This record gives sequence, structure tokens and C-alpha cells, in this order.
Amino acid sequence: MITGWRALVEERAEALVMKSRNVLALALLLVVTAFPVLAKKDKDAKTPSPAAPGDTGVAAYLGGEPISMEDVNKQAEAGMDRLRQQEAAFRRQLAQDGYNIKKSALDQIVEQRLLDQEAKKRSVTVDAMIKAEVEDKAGKVTKLVERARFDPGRTRAFVCGPEGMMRFAVSALTARGVSPERVFLSLERNMKCAIGFCGHCQLATQFVCRDGPVFPFAKIEPIFRVREL
Ligand code: FES
Repeated sequence: MITGWRALVEERAEALVMKSRNVLALALLLVVTAFPVLAKKDKDAKTPSPAAPGDTGVAAYLGGEPISMEDVNKQAEAGMDRLRQQEAAFRRQLAQDGYNIKKSALDQIVEQRLLDQEAKKRSVTVDAMIKAEVEDKAGKVTKLVERARFDPGRTRAFVCGPEGMMRFAVSALTARGVSPERVFLSLERNMKCAIGFCGHCQLATQFVCRDGPVFPFAKIEPIFRVREL
């Protein structure tokens, strides 16, 4: 009976030891399995994700030393300022372009409606009216000067273009009574120094670069009438 009791105790003790060994083995297995996960978590903690501007967290670690977002923000301040200025300039340009596009659209609408109204008044189409007013009247500038309605005593004329055409235009204007002091000519000559020194642009007594290039006709009348000067 005693022998049976001892055998039972020894058997239970052996079973307990076996169970403890199994628990220990299982614990070791869990530690080994969990190690890569823990290692990854540790690695993740050392490479934080980029922080938002103004974030006071840690941007990175260098040799175990943290580099704060505050330092990063300070270092980036000048560059960020430039970026903000560029953004503001871009927005201003965008607003200006938008305004110009709408202004141009408004001008087109106004122009078209004025043409429609005038054509309706004349009982013709817009195309017919433009042909009559523009294409049929196109011709030499002298004809325009003859037909144009203006008060010669209150007129100032500015003429530019080929010199031959300007000679005829000046004649037509003065023939209509515009005084030579009120007619201005824009002369063109090849220029080099642009300070009245080299003589490239010289026109008799005048230097186009220094004295012009826009002259009152009264000032240059005698030399302007000489061809090929
Ligand atoms: S360009 Fe030289 S004098 Fe006019």
C-alpha cells in the first residue's frame, strides 16, 4: 500500500516536471517567434515618418542623437519663404490673367453688340457694313486725310512709316490747314552709338538718335524735302 502510494507520488512528480519542460519550451518558441517583430518595432521607432511643418517631434536620429523638427523648420525657413513668395506671385499672375481673359471677353461682346446695333440701324448685315466702311474705303493715306473730319486748328498729327509716304501725308495735312508745328514725324536711321557721336544716324544738321527720333515737321522741313538725304 505504501509502495503504491510512493509510486503514485513519483509518477505525478515526473508528470509535473514534463509539463514544466513543455511550458518552458513553448515560452522559448514564443520568444524566438516574437523577436523579429520586436526588432522591426524597434527599427521603426528609430526612423520616424516625416513630420508636418510646425511639428515639434523628432525628424531623424543621427548616431542615436535626435534631430528635431524645430531644427529642420529653422533650417528650411529661407527656402520656405521663397516658396511662399513664388506661390503668392503665381496667384497674383493667375488673378491678372483671369481678369485679362474676362476683360477681353467683355470687349468682344460689347464690340459685337455695337456692330449689330449699327448694322440694324442701316438695315444691312454686319459683313456688308464692314465692307462698305473699311474695305471699300481702304487706299492711300492722303485720301484718308482728305476725307477725315477734323478741325485743322485743333489737330496734331503724328506720322510714321516710309519717308515717301510721310512726305505725301505731310503735304495732305498742311494742304488741309494743319500747321507744320503741329505735324510730328518719326524718322528712322541706322544707329550705332546712340549719343550723337558716330554720325551713323545723321540727317544733315540733325542726329536722329540725339535730336529725335520724333521731330516737329517745322524743324526739319528743309532737309526732309531733300530726297535720299
Ligand atoms: S547713332 Fe551715332 S550719332 Fe546717332
